[in-house]
Amino acid sequence: MPLRRNVITAFIWIAIVSVIAVHLIWNGPNEPSKIFSQQSITQLKTILKRSESDKNSNHPNNERTDETIVSDYNSKSDLINHVNGQLITNASFLSEIKQLKNEIDIREKKIQKLKDQNQKLIDKEKQFKNLARRLAVKLKGKESGTLPKLDPSIPWIFSITPTNPRYTQKAELIRLSQTLQHVTNFHWILIEDSKFRTNLVSKLLQESGLSFTHLNVRTSWHMQKKKGEKYNKHHRGVEQRNAGLKWLRDNVNPKKTPGVVYFMDDDNTYHKKIFDEMRWTHHVSVWPVGLSGGARWAGPVVSNGKVTSFHTNWAPDRSFPLDMAGFAVNLNLLLKEKPKVVFDINAKRGYLEPTFLESITTIDQLEPLANNCTEVLVWHTRTEVPVVSIKGERELIKLGKPSNPSIEV
Ligand SMILES: *[C@@H]1O[C@H](CO)[C@@H](O)[C@H](O)[C@H]1NC(C)=O
Ligand SMILES: *[C@@H]1O[C@H](CO)[C@@H](O)[C@H](O)[C@H]1NC(C)=O
Repeated sequence: MPLRRNVITAFIWIAIVSVIAVHLIWNGPNEPSKIFSQQSITQLKTILKRSESDKNSNHPNNERTDETIVSDYNSKSDLINHVNGQLITNASFLSEIKQLKNEIDIREKKIQKLKDQNQKLIDKEKQFKNLARRLAVKLKGKESGTLPKLDPSIPWIFSITPTNPRYTQKAELIRLSQTLQHVTNFHWILIEDSKFRTNLVSKLLQESGLSFTHLNVRTSWHMQKKKGEKYNKHHRGVEQRNAGLKWLRDNVNPKKTPGVVYFMDDDNTYHKKIFDEMRWTHHVSVWPVGLSGGARWAGPVVSNGKVTSFHTNWAPDRSFPLDMAGFAVNLNLLLKEKPKVVFDINAKRGYLEPTFLESITTIDQLEPLANNCTEVLVWHTRTEVPVVSIKGERELIKLGKPSNPSIEV
């Protein structure tokens, strides 16, 4: 009996111990084990094999598109996520997984690099498109005659033009600049009577295609028209013209760039022929000006190719009864021989031209142009002040309905 009981007890113990042992052997000491499905292992292996063949291939990027690389990457990382959720006991398999992770890191970097390269290509493409557009504009300009028009074999014209802000300013400057586009070797010095250079004039000059210098000088207070005065007792544009002269003296060498200086108003009318005549001026050249001097025209009277007197209806006893638009001065004369001569800020009305010309020339030195001063090529036109528009705009402002101020006129 006791023996049988002992045998049974021993048997029970053996059974318990073997159950524990089997359990330990089967599950490992601490970790619960999960075995990969045969399917995911084969999947991993095919992918690894494919990466291996990629590495050995000479042109991996050519053979496989970015898209397949990305989708491959996606399927691999799905798999890794799946695998990461399980515990792996097979050491050699673990190393395969590590290798795969490495492979994925490399792929990730490759993808980033491709993305960066792609961005660079997009930026380059934008740059090229811009360049192409600018070239197209240039080519178009070439077809319609490149500006500025240049010819190294003929003298330059440096024109000094004061301009002041007013209702008709843009219209006058457009008209004048489009005349000047026909003139070869022309440099326009435009001086605004303003505390700053305005956008309107800056844009207009830039778009004109002309060679230009843009300056600004605000007329000093004592030279401005006072309230109650019917007209300004002082000459307009004196400080602006003198600023233009200063710029020429500071910036142009008449030995290197022979030419003439011409004082243009922004509201006159100029025949393009006069420019090709004046550019050859040796000293001071003169010609008649239409609609000036209180007559159909005013200007020099020529006999035997020499200026002998002047035709004018207004203040005929002036030394040089000439309009600003009726003479041009050799550049070297103004810059080198008479480097201090400027317009007299205190000259009486009508005496600005005479006092200036007196200080640089004499009548017998004048060179008559325009077919011995028998042709009018310049007109002292004046644009009417647009009173109706000004008054009408004031009414609209009162009504709170002003014309859209963002539309430049
Ligand atoms: C462990 O990995 C090796 C090498 O990949 C493989 O031959 C073996 O069958 C694997 N054992 C298990 C249980 O997955
Ligand atoms: C101007 O007059 C002079 C003298 O009569 C003459 O020799 C010259 O050819 C004339 N110039 C022009 C451009 O007609």
